[in-house]
Amino acid sequence: MNAQELLDLITSRRSSVLIDREKRVEESVINDMITAAQYAPNHKRTWPARFAVISGVSQHVLGNAIADSMSKRGDDKFKVDKTRTKYTRSPYVIVVASAKGESDNETEENKFAVAAGIQNMLLLAHAHGLATMWGSPAKGANKAITRVCGFDDSDVVLGIIYVGWPARDVEHVERPAPRVTHLQ
Ligand SMILES: Cc1cc2nc3c(=O)[nH]c(=O)nc-3n(C[C@H](O)[C@H](O)[C@H](O)COP(=O)(O)O)c2cc1C
Repeated sequence: MNAQELLDLITSRRSSVLIDREKRVEESVINDMITAAQYAPNHKRTWPARFAVISGVSQHVLGNAIADSMSKRGDDKFKVDKTRTKYTRSPYVIVVASAKGESDNETEENKFAVAAGIQNMLLLAHAHGLATMWGSPAKGANKAITRVCGFDDSDVVLGIIYVGWPARDVEHVERPAPRVTHLQ
């Protein structure tokens, strides 16, 4: 792949949850996504990313755990009920978390590193023709998610990534001109 092809790949990626949940995704692709994430830079090579690959009945387990924690917080019942089945919209969801560092600064930088890794995952999936969507974890549900995923309670969940074959194409969206300062 040359630089132009890489730029074309980056600029053609779109978020989408319009996914065919019945169409199987090869596990090797999921593994490649995780490898891609692990190759993002991280400060001092402390490897802060944590991943959980969730499919089948565990998608309900995840949804119910998050929904229960939302319910305890008094969230809207409609949202809570929707959350119970939300993660079954794609054949896989990948939960990605960032480990606590040895200082507040390291903890913060770990999140930057893991976010860079998530973008690598999205691009790798896009290169395979897959659709992805980076979903935010529900507020207050961190512990519920880390428990389901077998992470440490101190890990911070940065995203729940839906992965599957696209059910429909998604329109290209032009970006605004980047805000850049050039200093010479
Ligand atoms: C940190 C982060 C959290 C996000 N959380 C959500 C979310 O909870 N729900 C959602 O629909 N999209 C979420 N997104 C996806 C963005 O909404 C999406 O990337 C944006 O709409 C731009 O679309 P594009 O990726 O197709 O350019 C999130 C993206 C990021 C980076």
